[in-house]
Amino acid sequence: MAYGNFMCYNNFMNTLTSSVTNLTDDKDLIRWDPKFALGIPLIDEQHKHLVELCNKVYTEVLASRLKYENDKNAQWQNAMAGTLKECVNYVATHFSNEEKIMKLVGYEQFSEHKNRHDEFTKKVLETAKGFESMDFSDAIKFCKFLYEWILSHIAHEDKLYVKKVLEYKKI
Ligand SMILES: [Fe+2]
Repeated sequence: MAYGNFMCYNNFMNTLTSSVTNLTDDKDLIRWDPKFALGIPLIDEQHKHLVELCNKVYTEVLASRLKYENDKNAQWQNAMAGTLKECVNYVATHFSNEEKIMKLVGYEQFSEHKNRHDEFTKKVLETAKGFESMDFSDAIKFCKFLYEWILSHIAHEDKLYVKKVLEYKKI
């Protein structure tokens, strides 16, 4: 897909907002939509996988809530530590790939973009560290934050490097 055919910003944000606003049930999981694609296959596959991993975290939080909502002493967070770690690690892998591509093509706003990645990584790592003392409400808020950040980052910052990458590929 050429850069010029990239979905219109308003459509994207409407899809995003209606999907993320009321995350309380698994019917509200974010489904990957081709409208989210940037037209760079490697990056699109990774973004899709990131959304799937967020869904995995969110699904496990909901399942634990169903099982342990009335048990104040339940260590439900331990049971999903592996999934959370998988998600956090994949964020790092994806950012590293994206940064390599931006550097390779000489993307002018590389530093600003990397700063956004670093800020997000810091926040996710801090939250993941405190996850074992979280209640269900905070865990759901955290999932909402993951979805919102990732999808709006694709729509804003990631969208900006597409032209440069596609031009490089033509050389
Ligand atoms: Fe990015």
